[in-house]
Formats: sequence, C-alpha cells, structure tokens
Amino acid sequence: MSTYKQLVGLAGLLAMSLLVLAACTRMKESRPILPTREYEKMLVGNLYADYVGTQNCLAACHEHDRLRLAFDASTMGAQLKKESGMPLVDCESCHGPGSLAIKDLSPELVAENAAQGRKTSCNFDTLIDLKNLPAPAQSLVCLKCHTVNATFNLHNWNAGVHAFNEVSCFECHDVHAGPDLKVTPLASGQLCFSCHQTVQAQFAMPSRHPLREGRVFCVDCHSPHGSFADHDLVRDSVKETCVQCHPDKRGPFLYEHADVTEDCLNCHSAHGSVNSRLLNAREPFLCLQCHEGHRLNTETGGSIGADRARAFYSRCTDCHSTIHGSDLPSTSGQGRFSQ
Ligand code: HEC
Ligand code: HEC
Ligand code: HEC
Ligand code: HEC
Ligand code: HEC
Ligand code: HEC
Ligand code: HEC
Ligand code: HEC
Ligand code: HEC
Repeated sequence: MSTYKQLVGLAGLLAMSLLVLAACTRMKESRPILPTREYEKMLVGNLYADYVGTQNCLAACHEHDRLRLAFDASTMGAQLKKESGMPLVDCESCHGPGSLAIKDLSPELVAENAAQGRKTSCNFDTLIDLKNLPAPAQSLVCLKCHTVNATFNLHNWNAGVHAFNEVSCFECHDVHAGPDLKVTPLASGQLCFSCHQTVQAQFAMPSRHPLREGRVFCVDCHSPHGSFADHDLVRDSVKETCVQCHPDKRGPFLYEHADVTEDCLNCHSAHGSVNSRLLNAREPFLCLQCHEGHRLNTETGGSIGADRARAFYSRCTDCHSTIHGSDLPSTSGQGRFSQ
C-alpha cells in the first residue's frame, strides 16, 4: 500500500516537474534574452543586397506612394534632405538594403500587370522581416538612431517595465499610420487601454481622474519609455507625481500628518475608486485603519472626554478638515488638523 502511495506521489512529482519544465521552455521560447550584438546581426539585412536609395526603391513601382507621402510629411521624413544627398532617414534605414527586392521590377512589368488588373509586388522576402523580429531587435531598429543623446526621453528605456516585458517601439508607434509619428496624449489613453484593461476598468469607476474628459492623461503620471521610479512614474515618488497638479498638498506644513502623506496612496487610488474623492476606503473606516475613534465632550468646548453623549464614527474630516497638513494648531495648541 505504502509503495503504491509512493508511486502515486512520484508520478505526481514527475508530472509537476514536467509541467514546470514545459512552462520554462515556453518562457524561453517567447523571450529569448540574447546579447545585444545578436540583435544587431538581425538588423544587418541581406548580405547580398545593396542600398539603392528611396528614389530608386520607389521609382520601380508606385505601390507605396501613400506610405511615401505620409512619411515625407512626418518629422522623420523631413530629415530626408534631397539637396544634401545624405538622407538621414529613408525606407532602407529600417527595412534594410533593397536592391534584391526590386531586382526583377521594371516600369514596363508594372504597367503590363496593371493593364491586366494585377498588382506588382517587390520581393519583400529579401528585406528585413521587421514584423517577426524579437521585441528587443525591433526596438533596436529605432534605437540605432534614437540614442540617448538624440532623444533624451528614451534615456531610461532599458530600465523601464515595457522594455523588460518585450513591448517594442512598434507596438505604440506605427510609423506608417500617418505623418503623426508621435502618440498624442489624447490618443494615448486608447492605446494604453488596449493592453491595460484593468486600468480601463478603474477609469470607469464613480470617482476617477478626469481622463475621459481629456483633463488628465496617462503620460502625465507615467513615462511609457520607462523611468527609475516604481510603475514607471514620471517623478521619483508618488507624492512628487501628484503634487505636479495638486501643489497645495506639497507642504512642508508646520503640522504634518506624520509621514503618512508622503505616499498619497495610503489613502487614495491613483486611477479610480468606488469611494468619493478617489479614497481607498470610506470614512471613517479609512482613518480607523490607523486610529481609534474618539468621543468628544461638546459641553467643554470640544476637548476629548469620557462623555458618552456623542460618538463620532462618521466623517472624521468634518472636523479634521486639513488632513493633508496644516500650519494652524488645533484648539489644544497641537496639530490635529482641525483647521
Ligand atoms: C523608421 C523606420 C521605418 C522607415 C523609415 C520606413 N518603414 Fe516601412 N515599416 C516599418 C515598420 C516598423 C513596419 C511594420 C512592421 C510590423 O508590421 O510590425 C513597416 C512596414 C512597412 C510595409 C508593410 C505594409 C504595412 O503598411 O504594414 C511597407 C510596404 C513599408 N513599410 C514600406 C516602407 C517604405 C516605402 C518606406 C519609405 C518611404 C518605409 N517603409 C520606411 C518601419 C519603417
Ligand atoms: C535612420 C535614423 C532613424 C531611425 C532608424 C528611426 N528614427 Fe525616428 N527620427 C529620426 C530623426 C532624425 C527624427 C527627427 C528628430 C527628432 O525628433 O529626434 C526622428 C523623429 C521621430 C519621432 C518624433 C516625431 C515628432 O513629431 O516629434 C518619433 C516618434 C520617431 N522618430 C519614432 C521612431 C520609431 C518608432 C522608429 C523605429 C521604428 C524610428 N523612429 C527609427 C531618425 C530615425
Ligand atoms: C507604451 C507605448 C510606447 C512605447 C513602447 C514607445 N513609445 Fe515612444 N511615445 C509614446 C507616447 C505616448 C509618446 C508621447 C509622449 C508625450 O506626449 O509625452 C511617445 C513619444 C515618442 C517620441 C517623441 C517625443 C520624444 O520623446 O522626443 C519619440 C522620438 C519616441 N516616442 C520614440 C520611441 C522609441 C524609439 C521607442 C522604442 C525604443 C518608443 N518610443 C517606445 C509611447 C510609446
Ligand atoms: C494621476 C496619475 C496617474 C494617471 C493619470 C495614470 N496613472 Fe497609472 N498609476 C499611477 C500610480 C501612482 C500608480 C501606482 C499605483 C499603486 O501602486 O497602487 C499607477 C499604477 C499603474 C499600473 C500598474 C498597477 C496596476 O494597476 O495595474 C499601470 C499598468 C498603470 N498605472 C497604467 C496606467 C494607464 C494605462 C493610464 C492611462 C489610461 C494611467 N496609468 C494613468 C498614477 C497614474
Ligand atoms: C502592447 C501592449 C502594451 C501597450 C500598448 C502599453 N503597455 Fe504598459 N505594459 C505592458 C506590459 C506587458 C507590461 C508589464 C506587465 C504588467 O505590469 O502589466 C506593462 C507595464 C506597464 C506599467 C508598469 C506596471 C507596474 O506594475 O509597474 C505601466 C505604468 C504601463 N505599462 C503604462 C502604460 C502606458 C501609460 C501606456 C500607453 C502610453 C502603455 N502602458 C501601453 C504592455 C503594454
Ligand atoms: C496632470 C494633473 C494631475 C496629476 C498629476 C494628479 N491629479 Fe489628481 N486631479 C487632477 C484633476 C484635473 C482633478 C479633477 C479636479 C476637479 O474636477 O475639480 C483631480 C482630482 C483629484 C482628486 C479628487 C477627486 C474627486 O472625486 O473630487 C484626488 C483625491 C486626486 N486628484 C488625487 C491625486 C493623486 C493621489 C495623484 C497622484 C497619484 C494625483 N491626483 C495626480 C489632476 C491631476
Ligand atoms: C491620511 C489619508 C490621506 C492621505 C495620505 C492623502 N489624502 Fe488626499 N484626501 C484625504 C481625504 C479623507 C480626502 C477627502 C476630504 C473630503 O472629503 O473633504 C482627501 C481629498 C483629497 C483631494 C480632493 C479635495 C482637496 O482637498 O483638494 C485631493 C486633490 C487630494 N486629497 C490629494 C492628495 C495628495 C496629492 C496626497 C499626497 C500628497 C494626498 N491627498 C494624501 C485623505 C488623504
Ligand atoms: C496609514 C495610517 C494612517 C491613516 C490612514 C490615517 N492616519 Fe492619522 N496619523 C497617522 C500617524 C502615523 C500619525 C502620527 C502618529 C500619531 O500621533 O498617532 C497620525 C496623526 C493623526 C492626527 C494627530 C494625532 C495627534 O496625536 O496629534 C490626527 C488628528 C489624525 N492622524 C487624523 C486622521 C484622520 C482623520 C484620518 C482619516 C482621514 C487619518 N488620520 C488617517 C497614521 C494614519
Ligand atoms: C466633531 C468633530 C470631530 C470628529 C467628527 C472627529 N474628531 Fe478627532 N478630534 C476632534 C477634536 C476637537 C480633537 C482634539 C483637538 C485638540 O486636542 O486640539 C480631536 C482629536 C483627535 C486625535 C488626536 C487626539 C487623541 O489622543 O486621540 C485623533 C487621532 C483623532 N481626533 C482622530 C479622529 C478620527 C479617526 C475620527 C473619525 C473616526 C475623528 N477624529 C473624528 C474632533 C473631531
């Protein structure tokens, strides 16, 4: 009997380790972490192809005229200085050398196909397969130009949660969607929600920051390109992030609420809450997490007494109204945030 049990136990253990092993290989498959030079190699492009320049590339057929127009109108396209002969950004900067792709194309062939109602396609298999590159390599396509010196906002990219989780530049910047390469703050909400559904739900709660009204944006508080702060916040701490827009809560005050207000999240949710004023819990429960409630002797002008006349387990901030800190003492000459 006991050997049977042992056998069952062993089988279970084996199954477990197999599962763990399977999970590990899957992880390895989906996120192979390679040295940077391996990613660089993927971006060299076809070794037998030459750079032919955007003009030659696009003269072969007019299939990409729309992309061309949008690109020329963008900030990156504007870098293409025709008179200098040294274009900073052209199609091949990202797609790799293109001579093989257009080798078999001629204006005659394109015209012939068009007459028969057929589209002509270049041999794009010879270009870099941008779509299927691992995320770090995709980002490297952009980072080879957008170095820290060129684009200061990217200086924390490698420290950020997105880079770490294999979210590449491509996911947020569609360079061919139109001339506007930059994601506008207003458009960022929908973009971010597409992957962050829990956050979307939070911004639909009764009390919330006015994001849908276009008065607050994700990028006011988070840097999508990464930061050294937790949750990729734009400032070093939660408090610094919040007081950008709520400067009256910055302090320092003569009477501080200990160091409780150093982290606004002790009492507030940043995105949304079912309680009014974005509070984590309703009053008095919010305060009762850290304090005992008390009774007040109304006859003696508000000193705390043993009188059982009234218990104030209601809204503590009806009296302690300067809960974020105050420069004025309370009636007993101490800091109790009552004025
Ligand atoms: C800054 C880098 C960059 C430049 C410059 C660039 N592309 Fe792209 N291109 C991309 C990326 C990234 C994709 C999308 C890969 C994916 O699907 O994830 C793409 C996709 C495409 C596609 C596939 C069709 C599509 O719309 O998804 C075509 C065609 C294309 N580019 C043509 C061009 C042409 C023509 C030029 C020059 C006018 C050009 N590209 C310049 C980065 C670039
Ligand atoms: C060959 C160099 C080069 C490559 C590769 C490149 N860029 Fe750029 N990019 C530039 C230059 C130059 C500018 C204009 C100057 C600036 O804003 O820094 C620019 C500007 C931008 C802008 C700012 C637009 C604005 O309106 O402010 C965005 C966004 C951008 N690039 C995204 C990307 C993405 C995403 C990729 C990768 C798919 C990429 N770039 C690849 C050179 C490049
Ligand atoms: C999670 C989404 C996201 C990812 C991933 C992302 N970006 Fe951005 N990027 C944005 C948003 C949103 C803005 C607009 C920021 C703003 O308005 O403050 C922006 C702005 C920019 C700008 C213009 C403003 C500036 O900082 O100068 C450049 C250039 C840029 N991104 C390049 C890149 C490159 C290169 C990568 C990859 C290494 C990348 N981005 C990855 C969302 C993203
Ligand atoms: C008013 C500032 C502010 C705004 C606006 C804001 N956030 Fe946050 N966000 C924070 C703070 C602070 C935290 C840390 C919360 C915590 O630890 O409970 C956070 C946490 C997060 C987290 C990680 C924790 C979680 O809840 O999953 C994600 C993801 C996130 N925010 C995404 C977004 C997106 C997407 C938007 C825009 C739709 C957005 N945030 C708008 C301040 C903000
Ligand atoms: C392509 C999907 C995708 C898009 C688009 C995207 N994110 Fe993320 N984001 C992720 C993933 C994956 C993670 C890491 C896992 C997690 O924490 O949810 C992450 C993490 C974060 C975190 C850190 C959460 C933490 O717990 O520390 C913040 C903040 C965040 N994203 C904000 C944004 C903002 C703001 C935008 C829009 C500008 C955005 N994201 C767009 C996929 C995305
Ligand atoms: C980009 C500016 C901005 C930032 C950053 C910001 N807020 Fe706000 N906050 C607002 C605006 C705008 C309102 C709405 C004010 C109104 O409707 O009168 C608001 C409202 C509030 C409210 C009251 C909500 C209500 O229901 O009345 C609280 C609480 C709050 N914010 C806390 C925070 C905290 C905590 C942080 C940091 C995580 C923060 N805010 C960061 C702009 C900001
Ligand atoms: C000890 C709990 C606590 C902490 C910590 C706290 N708050 Fe509050 N906050 C409250 C309460 C309670 C209210 C609601 C008061 C009311 O309903 O009259 C409030 C209301 C607010 C409001 C809206 C009303 C107003 O006074 O403008 C803002 C904005 C706000 N807090 C910002 C912040 C910021 C920013 C921080 C961090 C620096 C912070 N709070 C830290 C308890 C707290
Ligand atoms: C996260 C814990 C925490 C929360 C939540 C909290 N406090 Fe405090 N509070 C403290 C600490 C710590 C002190 C300073 C230590 C002390 O004197 O008890 C303090 C001090 C006080 C004082 C001054 C006490 C004295 O003896 O001088 C008052 C009054 C006060 N809090 C009221 C409130 C009210 C009202 C709320 C709800 C809106 C609240 N607190 C929420 C932790 C908290
Ligand atoms: C009707 C007004 C009123 C209400 C409501 C009220 N308080 Fe007070 N509280 C006071 C007064 C007045 C003092 C004494 C002020 C002084 O000493 O100057 C005080 C003192 C305190 C103190 C410090 C003194 C001590 O030894 O306890 C704390 C902590 C406190 N209150 C927490 C709370 C909490 C938590 C709530 C909600 C459950 C609350 N108060 C509700 C008026 C009120």
